[in-house]
This record gives sequence, C-alpha cells and structure tokens, in this order.
Amino acid sequence: MTQRLALVTGGEGGIGTEICRQLGHAGRRVVTTCMDPEAANIEAWAEALRKEGIDANWIQCDVSDLSACEKMAETVREQYGDVEILVNVAGITKDGFLHKMDYEQWFDVININLNGAFNVTRQFVESMRKAGFGRIVNISSVNGQAGQFGQTNYSAAKAGMHGFTMALAKESAPKGVSVNTVSPGYIKTSMTDAIPDKVREAIISQIPAGDLGEPSDIARAVAFLTADDAGYINGANLPVNGAQFCSF
Ligand code: CAA
Repeated sequence: MTQRLALVTGGEGGIGTEICRQLGHAGRRVVTTCMDPEAANIEAWAEALRKEGIDANWIQCDVSDLSACEKMAETVREQYGDVEILVNVAGITKDGFLHKMDYEQWFDVININLNGAFNVTRQFVESMRKAGFGRIVNISSVNGQAGQFGQTNYSAAKAGMHGFTMALAKESAPKGVSVNTVSPGYIKTSMTDAIPDKVREAIISQIPAGDLGEPSDIARAVAFLTADDAGYINGANLPVNGAQFCSF
C-alpha cells in the first residue's frame, strides 16, 4: 500500500521539522511548503530527513497568497499524489503593543497565520472528503487561548484558527475527515529565542513544568491526532504547554 502523503506548511521551522520527522517515522511521506527555500537551506533540510529513511520533499509557497497555494496544490498532486494529512504550521510573530502596532504588523500576522490556513486547507479538503479519509491539524498557541502582552495580532489569528477547526470539523466528520487544533505553549524555537531575555524568564517562571517545551512535544501530539485510527477525535484542541494554561 502506498504510504499516506502528509503536507506540512512551514515544515522547515523548529516545530515543523520535528512534525515532519515524527510523521515520517510513522510511515508517512512528507512534503513541506517553504516560503524562502534558499534562506531555509531547504535541500539540506530534506537530505537530513532522507538520511533517517524519511521520504521528505519540499515545495516553495507563500501560504498567504491564495493563487500561489492553488498552484502549489496542483504541483503536489501531480508529483506526489493526494494529500491525506495536512498540518498547518506556517506562522510568524510581529509583536508589539496595540497602541504602537502598525497595519503591516497586524495584516502580515493575520494573512500568514490565519488566512494561510484557509488558503492551504481549501486546496485539499475536497479530495479528502471524496476519499472518505483525511486528517487536518492546525497549530495554534497558548497565546490564542489566553492572550499575551504584545500579541493582539498573533492571539487573534491563533484563536481564529481554533474557530476554523471547530467549524470545519463539523463539516468534515460525516466524510471521515478529522480537524483538530494543537495549541503549543512556549517551545524552544527561534520564535521564543527572539523574546527579550527578561520577558522569557518571567514567562518560564509561570510554567509549572519549569521550562520551555521541546518541538518533539508538539510533534507527538500531531502524530497522535493524525493516526489512521484517531478519526473520532474531531474538533478538539489539544494544549501542550507544561500546565502553563489549563482549561476545559
Ligand atoms: N508580562 C508582564 N509584563 C510585560 C510582559 C509580559 N509578558 N511583556 C511586557 N511587559 C511589560 C514590561 O515589563 C514593561 O513594563 P514596565 O514599563 O513596567 O517596565 C512594559 O510591559 C513595556 O514592555 P517593553 O519595555 O518590553 O515594551 P516594548 O514596547 O519595547 O515591547 C513587547 C513590548 C513587544 C510586548 C515585548 O515586551 C515583547 O516582545 N514581549 C514578549 C511577547 C511574547 O511573549 N511573545 C511570544 C513570542 S513566542 C510565541 O508567540 C510562540 C507561542 O505561540 C507561545
């Protein structure tokens, strides 16, 4: 049987790479979208995963650009076949208090983090419905659940992603497609490296687990939700945050 194909947007980042690795080790073929292949040194990224025995590939795509996503989906279909697992990871931060935030900071974050999830998912959900099987995971954030200083843009986009998840789960469940959210807490990546040291220390002091999480902690949740036998878990949010924020 052909191994299922997983598309991971922003798969070259800290969390994305670990998701690709764990999906690959679970027997999935993996393709990542990459905004800037040269800057990401994406061929070396793919080669490193291939050395671990993973069928890993990449395709250039700006997820905030709908027509680029349409073209990307066409190419993926031609070269690799139907996407059966989709993980929307691509995201950025442009932090700043709202009273200092400019339009670009707001729209860039909404366009990549939230509109990007629509632009990409729109391309693949129909074939999943037709096949009667699909797994979609949207990577949100604890800051979408709880809000965060300097992140009105990011918190709005990430909260929006879970609304998107819940509505799409209702539409998709009758067709064998599950749609879930994973909400990472603060994870060791370049994104959290960029937080001012004093602020990062204050945040860590509020995490009962005592430290930032690892990208593999998030990948483990994604591998779980995308398993072939996980289909009844649908419309859920799975927080992975070291007990920083607990809720129903
Ligand atoms: N908690 C409490 N107080 C905070 C705070 C926080 N998280 N962030 C800022 N403040 C306070 C500062 O201590 C400071 O207080 P004083 O005036 O009393 O000194 C005041 O707010 C102003 O802060 P700054 O001097 O830093 O103001 P600034 O305009 O230069 O920057 C900021 C503000 C952009 C919010 C900056 O503090 C910052 O980058 N904070 C980190 C934001 C953050 O957590 N981003 C998460 C990135 S990781 C991520 O997003 C991944 C994920 O999903 C979890």
